[in-house]
Amino acid sequence: MLPTIAREADEVVMVDQRKLPGEEVYVRCKTAAEVARAIKTMVIRGAPAIGVAAAMGIALGTRNSKATGTQKFAAEFYKICELMGATRPTAVNLFWAIERMKRVFAKAAEAGESVEQIKDRLDAEAVRVHDEDVASCRAMGAFGAEVVPADARILTHCNAGALATAGYGTALGVVRGAVEAGKHVVVFADETRPFLQGARLTAWELVRDGIQTTVITDNMAGSLMRQGRVNFVVVGADRIAANGDTANKIGTYGVAVLAREHGIPFYVAAPLSTIDLGTPDGTHIPIEERSSKEVTHVRGLQVTPDGALVWNPAFDVTPHRLIAGIITERGIFRSPYIESLKRAFEEVSLA
Ligand code: MRU
Repeated sequence: MLPTIAREADEVVMVDQRKLPGEEVYVRCKTAAEVARAIKTMVIRGAPAIGVAAAMGIALGTRNSKATGTQKFAAEFYKICELMGATRPTAVNLFWAIERMKRVFAKAAEAGESVEQIKDRLDAEAVRVHDEDVASCRAMGAFGAEVVPADARILTHCNAGALATAGYGTALGVVRGAVEAGKHVVVFADETRPFLQGARLTAWELVRDGIQTTVITDNMAGSLMRQGRVNFVVVGADRIAANGDTANKIGTYGVAVLAREHGIPFYVAAPLSTIDLGTPDGTHIPIEERSSKEVTHVRGLQVTPDGALVWNPAFDVTPHRLIAGIITERGIFRSPYIESLKRAFEEVSLA
């Protein structure tokens, strides 16, 4: 399986996704600040992977603490959580992971555990966040495979693969699940301007897996669908609101509109950690805006004239009415999402 992120003794190690597919190099973070920087600068990206990185960064940062008393240790812990929370605003998995670490901290501190014991608990929780994510992706893959056509021509946007998770992937987990279920699958990967996650990362992953992959530029999707060459769309998500509205990589909304126009089912694959029942609908999802340089420059070369203004939102929101189903580790949830997504969590608390 692809190595997205790992904890190695006093380091958090991650493959530098900015350099793929040209170079496979690893970034070794020795401090929480270095992990936070890696998230912000997209060394590691993709909502679930960001959550895992934050949990590992918090565990690493607190492990490095020289504090002996719980009070000073607590102050440092919360500062590290704040640092992580300031990296990227849209992917709710980030905040979900931070909350998980805070709960573990609070419980251990309330029980009067020592600094060393709390450090061990935080380490163990980060490992769980990582391992559970892989298990969720595999479950999503198996559920999603059931709705993939036997002869599938799948279009996906951005990279919701092993690189965007602790392993296996969400949308690409569904692709992998369908292949494992014996379906014939070919994939069209949207290039995904401006960061090129589709062209660079999705294509890299799938080609390595021997899955036929055709890269298209984002503006080709409509024409491809019109020619009848796509019969299934699956994408990942950065945050799903209580009513099913879904934030994902910029351009996803356009793909969903095109899919509806051409009668192609449009699915979202995401773990429950991406569903945010506290956000009522898509209008409340904070959308990250990134540097204009991502648009004005391609691989260091300026492609726009000086003086041109730039708008660079990293995500858009697909309204729930365009979504055929949300594939999770608990099964596939369908409209009305306001009810089905709430049920998904009730089922978890019963389990
Ligand atoms: O800006 P990125 O690369 O972090 O955006 C990633 C996406 O939009 C993914 O589709 C989403 O996080 C789901 S990843 C399983």
